[in-house]
Amino acid sequence: MCGIVGAIAQRNVVPILLEGLQRLEYRGYDSAGLVVVHDEELDRVRSTGRVADLTKKTASTQGLIGIAHTRWATHGVPSERNAHPHVSKNQIAVVHNGIIENYEILRTRLTSEGYEFASDTDTEVIGHLIHSYYKNGGTLLAATQAALAELVGAYAIGVIANDNRDQLVCARRGSPLLLGVGDGEHFIASDVSALLAQTRKVVYLEEGDVVELGRHGYKIFDVNGRHVERIVQLSELSNDSVELGLYQHYMQKEIHEQPQALADTLESVCNSQSLVPGIFGAQAANTFADIDSILILACGTSHHAGLVARYWLEEIAGIRCNVEIASEYRYRDSVANPKSLVVVISQSGETADTQAALNHAKSLGHTHTLAICNVPESALIRLCKLRMLTRAGPEIGVASTKAFTTQLAALFLLTLVLAKQRGRLSLQDEQRHLHDLRHLPSAVQKVLELEPHIAKLAEKFASKHNALFLGRGLHFPIAAEGALKLKEVSYIHAEAYPAGELKHGPLALVDKDMPVISVAPNDALLEKLKSNLQEVRARGGELYVFADANTHIKEAEGIHIMHMPEHAGYLSPILHTIPLQLLAYYVALQKGTDVDKPRNLAKSVTVE
Ligand code: F6R
Repeated sequence: MCGIVGAIAQRNVVPILLEGLQRLEYRGYDSAGLVVVHDEELDRVRSTGRVADLTKKTASTQGLIGIAHTRWATHGVPSERNAHPHVSKNQIAVVHNGIIENYEILRTRLTSEGYEFASDTDTEVIGHLIHSYYKNGGTLLAATQAALAELVGAYAIGVIANDNRDQLVCARRGSPLLLGVGDGEHFIASDVSALLAQTRKVVYLEEGDVVELGRHGYKIFDVNGRHVERIVQLSELSNDSVELGLYQHYMQKEIHEQPQALADTLESVCNSQSLVPGIFGAQAANTFADIDSILILACGTSHHAGLVARYWLEEIAGIRCNVEIASEYRYRDSVANPKSLVVVISQSGETADTQAALNHAKSLGHTHTLAICNVPESALIRLCKLRMLTRAGPEIGVASTKAFTTQLAALFLLTLVLAKQRGRLSLQDEQRHLHDLRHLPSAVQKVLELEPHIAKLAEKFASKHNALFLGRGLHFPIAAEGALKLKEVSYIHAEAYPAGELKHGPLALVDKDMPVISVAPNDALLEKLKSNLQEVRARGGELYVFADANTHIKEAEGIHIMHMPEHAGYLSPILHTIPLQLLAYYVALQKGTDVDKPRNLAKSVTVE
């Protein structure tokens, strides 16, 4: 998704803006641009290439104040004329994340007032609207506030004017934006990672905030225009955590970070002797006592985590659980159960559909809400009464990896806490699960040792156009996640089916050109799965089986086995995710795709 960086300083801000944009590249973009004030003129440079192209094009650009943007096209094709910043009458420049829903009405009005539109974007109306107020006199802040009052939709914006080198104005509603506090300089960004090279002191803006930044201070005004103070926080992210280090790609790095990410997420629990609801917030015990079911809302990979959790929650905690795709739920007139706990799962905490689904659930009467999320201070964390932060660290690769396995760990903890509260967890079982959780990071580490074998296996996929993933029970969502990873990064069309469903249709697809990848844990459904694999083999399908020890599935003509080091019981879905992530990664390498920035995708989907 789009990214914003801005700076006002006593030095040339162009390198600051470019470095910030580079750090936002992971979010996905198709064009980039920046503008600075120089000699009372707006000096704007834009490019449809990578940030590296923009760097070349700005070699001689200089200014003490500027704003910059990476764009992921929504309104209008990716092109230089649609790239941000957008400029009005050479006087006002704007960068914008989000979507302005009433832009057509505004565009018609502004056109009749003599404004010319040079792009197809919704953003351009913001610049012209601010200009229409600014030209009558008054401050940039006042003109921006007046313009914002007319906008319907979501935005994070940065604004500068050609005749004011001393003030940068920014605002947010519905899209994230934060301030960076420096010494004699201030910054804005849509993501803290953009600012880490400049400062770790940050202020997370609240919904509706508008800010006037100078070099030596800033003033924040809330949604009602009142001057307010917001806490300055020290970001816990280190500069290193967003560096690639020795790895070739962020996806590979993040796959390898999973043992640590899991250990960090489970830290407080694994260091104690028993499970307490407090890990989900101070009110958790009371809330959990009041609920009779769970409603999980999420998108994409996070939705797959929810699907795994449904098995755990119903089987171990004995609590009814529904899992819904957020973008569908938000538009459905469902029957609300106020005794249900609404759980939103999200890496970014900013996904527009998940936020809208949560708000929809609240509007239907749901009051119990829990966010499982990887980003502190994100919108979903703020919108929920209960919360658990996964501690995966920044996930830069567009394909979600460590966020997924840490979400699973958090959801397993939720299951155990609810099971205990509902009298379904003996002391002995609690200790056994705690033991398994403590062992989990090293179990994942052992699975990672399969990497060279999987890299070899991936060679067989380079010429394929389709793939089928099979799993059963707890592991069907893992097959679905494996298929999603493969299609995202290698562009091979992949589908997942519960293995028992094969003969109800998809078996027709199986022939010698269709690789069939199966997740084969040593669980109660193993024998059923083996029969399904026979059905594939009998039709000439080539099988790739990730099998636990003692499954007695043998390597043979057309059957390739990858042996998993151990069976992890209920935690097995976490272990079985790892080889499928590695497979997708190495197939993508074979195919030469842009692994960390797959085409058409964005990291954090903040628009509908
Ligand atoms: C897939 C992927 C997406 C996200 C989805 C939800 O690899 O990353 O499917 O899982 O866009 O994003 P979050 O978890 O940030 O709400």
